[in-house]
Amino acid sequence: MFITFEGPDGSGKTTQFHLLVTWLHKKGYPVISTREPGGTDIGEQIRDVLHNPQNTAMDARTEILLYSASRAQHVAQHIRPALAQGKIVVSDRYADSTLAYQGYGRQLDLETLRQITTFATGGLVPDLTLYLDISAQKGLSRRRLGGGEWNRLDAEALEFHQRVRAGYHELVKQEPDRWVIVDAARPIEGIQAEIRATVGEKLEQIKKTRDL
Ligand code: TYD
Repeated sequence: MFITFEGPDGSGKTTQFHLLVTWLHKKGYPVISTREPGGTDIGEQIRDVLHNPQNTAMDARTEILLYSASRAQHVAQHIRPALAQGKIVVSDRYADSTLAYQGYGRQLDLETLRQITTFATGGLVPDLTLYLDISAQKGLSRRRLGGGEWNRLDAEALEFHQRVRAGYHELVKQEPDRWVIVDAARPIEGIQAEIRATVGEKLEQIKKTRDL
C-alpha cells in the first residue's frame, strides 16, 4: 500500500507523517518512510539544488524537471521495490506536489505537468493521499515561527501559497476516492487520531479485497 502526505507549507504535515510511521511500526506493519524531493542518494542531491535559496535564477521548467528527476529515481529505486515486497510505503509529498506548486502555484500547463509526472512515475498513483489543509496565511506564519529549513518556495508571495491551496482543493475534487482532507488547524493529537483511523480503515479495506 502506498500512502502519501500532501499539504501547504506549515501545515504540520511532516510531524503527522512521522507520528503515523511510528504508529505503523509499533503495530508491526512492514513500513518504509520516505520523502520528496529526495528519498534516494541521487534524489537528496537534487533536493539540495532545488532548495538552495541562492538558486534564484532557476527557470520554472528546470524546477519541474528536477522535481521529476528526483521522483523518477525515487519510484524506480525505492518505492516500487518496496511495494513489490508487500511493504507499506509512506511518502512525505509525491507527484501531487508538482501539480499543486508548479501547476496551480506557478500557473504552468497542467496537462503537460501530468504527462511529465506520468513519465517520471511510470503511472504509479498512491492508494491514499492525506491532505493537511490550512490557510496560506496560517501556514506561512507557522513556518516563520517554527524555524527549520527556509526553502526557495517558502519565500514566494502569499498569493502563490493561496493558489497552491486552491489547487490542492481542485485535485481533491478530481479524485475524491483517493484523497482525505484533514483539518490541520487543530491540536496535533486530534489530527493524528483522525489520520490513524483513516489509515486503519484503508488497511482493513485492502485486507478484505485480498481475502476475497
Ligand atoms: P520541504 O522542506 O520538504 O518542506 P515541506 O515540509 O513543506 O514539505 O520542502 C518541499 C518544498 O518543495 C515545498 O515548498 C514544496 C516544494 N515542492 C514542489 O514545489 N514541487 C514538488 O514536486 C515537490 C515534491 C515539492
